Amino acid sequence: MIKPIDEAVSFIRSRSRLQPAAGVILGSGLGDVADSIDVETAIGYGEIPGAKASGVAGHQGRLVLGRAGKAPVAVMQGRIHFYEGHELGDVMFLTRVLGRLGIKSLVVTNAAGGVNTSYGAGDLMLISDHINFMGVNPLRGPNIDELGVRFPDMSESYPESLREMARGVARSIGIKLQEGVYLALSGPTYETPAEIRAFRTLGADAVGMSTVPEVIAASQMQIPVLGISCITNMAAGILKQKLTHQEVMDTTARVQKQFAALVLGVLEKLA
Ligand code: HPA
Repeated sequence: MIKPIDEAVSFIRSRSRLQPAAGVILGSGLGDVADSIDVETAIGYGEIPGAKASGVAGHQGRLVLGRAGKAPVAVMQGRIHFYEGHELGDVMFLTRVLGRLGIKSLVVTNAAGGVNTSYGAGDLMLISDHINFMGVNPLRGPNIDELGVRFPDMSESYPESLREMARGVARSIGIKLQEGVYLALSGPTYETPAEIRAFRTLGADAVGMSTVPEVIAASQMQIPVLGISCITNMAAGILKQKLTHQEVMDTTARVQKQFAALVLGVLEKLA
């Protein structure tokens, strides 16, 4: 149904006149980018009709409307996840709201485990494509025709033109970028070493528990996506150590400055 989505759009418009050119979704521990935004309005997810609040440590759960340099942006500081028990319609909800608000592009970020053994914890990876291994497609069910077609094309969800722009930004500020395929699982367990070996064979470079539903929602609305993963840890079985959420948070804290510089540089180009 389009009505709840457009009701949320009306509510946001009643709180802010800013017309965002780009939307941004900040992943686990990556919320600090919002500190560099000249905030016009911040709205808690709980205030937005139809939106669900985020309950994960490291996720703030607010929508920030403001400017990144000159660029008017709408930043989701924290997302909600499938593993929290939410329906995928709820996971996609705010992305669709941003789409109906009129964003022209979407920057999605996440924390991910490195599957490609040439990666290291702390690397940033441009997402060149994804593999949906969540076990379900978020668009299953009646199509909302106002948002797009029943059978959306996914062959250019992460356009080369946006990645080329991001590579340029990274070069200009001296940040090394990896580039690869993000494979999404439902979580909340981390993977087994056997799963990681299998996913490497399938062509995955990184694994995570988010992002794909939002990218599918954006793709249906024909909104181009730039994806950036922060490789917070090497995936299961690669190193002789266990995986913890603490490591994820520690790594995002360590690369936060670089990451924010990249995202802000990208946003200024998207305006
Ligand atoms: N697996 C899945 N999701 C993740 C990981 C991981 O290793 N690291 C951060 N998010």
